[in-house]
Amino acid sequence: MCGIVGITGSRAALPVLLRGLQKLEYRGYDSAGVYVNDSATNDEFFFKEKGRVEQLEALVADKGIHGNTGIAHTRWATHGIPSAHNSHPHVSASGRFFLVHNGVIEGFRELKETYLQGVDFKSETDTEVAVQLVAKFVEQDGLTVPTAFRKVLALIGTGSYGFVLVDNQNPDVLYVARNKSPLLLGLGEDFTVVTSDAAAMLEYTHEFMALDDGEMAIIKGTDIEILNAANEPVKHDAFTIEIDAAETDKGIYPYYMLKEIEEQPNVIRTLLNEYMDDTSHVNIDDAIINELKQADRIYIVAAGTSYHASLIGKRMFEKIANRPTQVEIASEFAYDSYIPEANPFFIFLSQSGETADSREVLQMVEAKGFKSLTLTNVPNSTLAREATYALPLLAGPEIAVASTKAYTAQITVLAFLAQAMVDNKVSVAHPLAAIAVAMEAILQDKDRYKVLAEEYLVDSSSAFYIGRANDAELALEAALKLKEISYVHTEGFAAGELKHGTLALIEDNTPVIGLITQPKTAELTRSNLAETQARGAHTLIIATEEIAHSDDQVILPSVDSANDDAVVVDQLAILLATIPVQLLSYFTSLGRGLDVDRPRNLAKSVTVQ
Ligand code: F6R
Repeated sequence: MCGIVGITGSRAALPVLLRGLQKLEYRGYDSAGVYVNDSATNDEFFFKEKGRVEQLEALVADKGIHGNTGIAHTRWATHGIPSAHNSHPHVSASGRFFLVHNGVIEGFRELKETYLQGVDFKSETDTEVAVQLVAKFVEQDGLTVPTAFRKVLALIGTGSYGFVLVDNQNPDVLYVARNKSPLLLGLGEDFTVVTSDAAAMLEYTHEFMALDDGEMAIIKGTDIEILNAANEPVKHDAFTIEIDAAETDKGIYPYYMLKEIEEQPNVIRTLLNEYMDDTSHVNIDDAIINELKQADRIYIVAAGTSYHASLIGKRMFEKIANRPTQVEIASEFAYDSYIPEANPFFIFLSQSGETADSREVLQMVEAKGFKSLTLTNVPNSTLAREATYALPLLAGPEIAVASTKAYTAQITVLAFLAQAMVDNKVSVAHPLAAIAVAMEAILQDKDRYKVLAEEYLVDSSSAFYIGRANDAELALEAALKLKEISYVHTEGFAAGELKHGTLALIEDNTPVIGLITQPKTAELTRSNLAETQARGAHTLIIATEEIAHSDDQVILPSVDSANDDAVVVDQLAILLATIPVQLLSYFTSLGRGLDVDRPRNLAKSVTVQ
């Protein structure tokens, strides 16, 4: 949440900063700002604007901005409404210090009361307190800038921050600090960039360095000094991010979401190539598989869409591998957990690898001495670095706020783990390959979902997805997908639960979408759909071919299961229905004239708790 970018060196700062903001906009898009300093001429430029990055770009276009040092920010509001005055950078009352921040300073009101009485604040943000404090400690108390900055970090304590600070009296230097919020240094030949996400800077460099919690860096051009929380110098190895910058572009697609939906068949194939050997045996480090096999219980911890993928993972681990598995919502488990087992094993499922609540759980379980595995789409992310083991999801950058291909990738890798836990006695390879082919057929017919979205959802104010067994878990994800980008209030429900209260919400024309991919519960779900229909619901059925009725609105291609384990096929069948529900959301959002990739109030990568 919130995107930060900074640069120092011998390159024009503004184009890099604006390009970085465009790429980071998925992290927040309610306001944006930029500060550039030209140390050769002593000129400085400072602009902030409510709204999208493109509005900031329009504002600065004719301002003749020049200079090689700068910082910029795109905001997802936590404290203070979206507005130009609350947007970053924030500047000290003296006009000397400029600061961008990602995170939350929990005790900011107390800090303001204690140290900053009488200071004229220009915003309602927590961030402004930090920049005013640096200024106070330097200008009134005579501290050096690094000492003042370190003092501010110490006062903030356990709050979350990625900070980049510029002092206009020493303007080629960036003062950088990080605690709990992601922040990477990007290493160029004649410059250094600071960024919340490597993907935003891939046009400029593929070499990065991560800072650990509590560390501070002082960067001038390519000179980088890193200090730990005790102010001792530390060194970090650089790592290379192999992703091609073009992968982070939309290409021919109108929206990232559509591109990412269409990439799913290939995501499955990439994962099959990477994780399966020639005999369709899973190729994953034995140490990980042994941990899973020996654990008294496997916990999968996640949030949002990743939580919904975890629910499918639990079913696969139990049904395919007979391993007791528990799924926990990270934001709950971090603060209220019960772990009676002596030897549990924890899987963290996270597209971004940065979700603050998941990290909180990871730190908690590490402190207890338990082992962990992160499955993430961002290989050098915080959760990947800090867990005992990490496996990549290889879905390629996911930019749309609504997660799609990461869900499919997560379920696929969890299926590999299930197969490995039973020593490859069952195989998920063929069903997955067949699903990839079937997904392509579904995508060929994607305009069908535009018609259905218009008929059922575009003009509705509420909707339901229902199903049983794995379909009930997909119903949760389908409902999240629809509500987050179309703002149609949608519930995902276990079909049999409706009549225990929620059926009261069904009115004439309420859309109720039945998901039917599970043979053993198909007829029961149909009965529940009939119950809603009898009360006026406008029902739509998405069913797999073997169990479809000829008048079902969507009949999904079959996955040839003659030689496959029926349990495995049943577990994975929801992947077929995943693309239709994603497309329904996409076309509903489009039909309602909304910004599909950037829904209101949200941001990708939730790095605050
Ligand atoms: C919804 C969505 C979110 C994320 C959630 C967890 O479409 O994208 O619900 O799934 O914020 O994020 P990660 O997987 O990055 O931990």
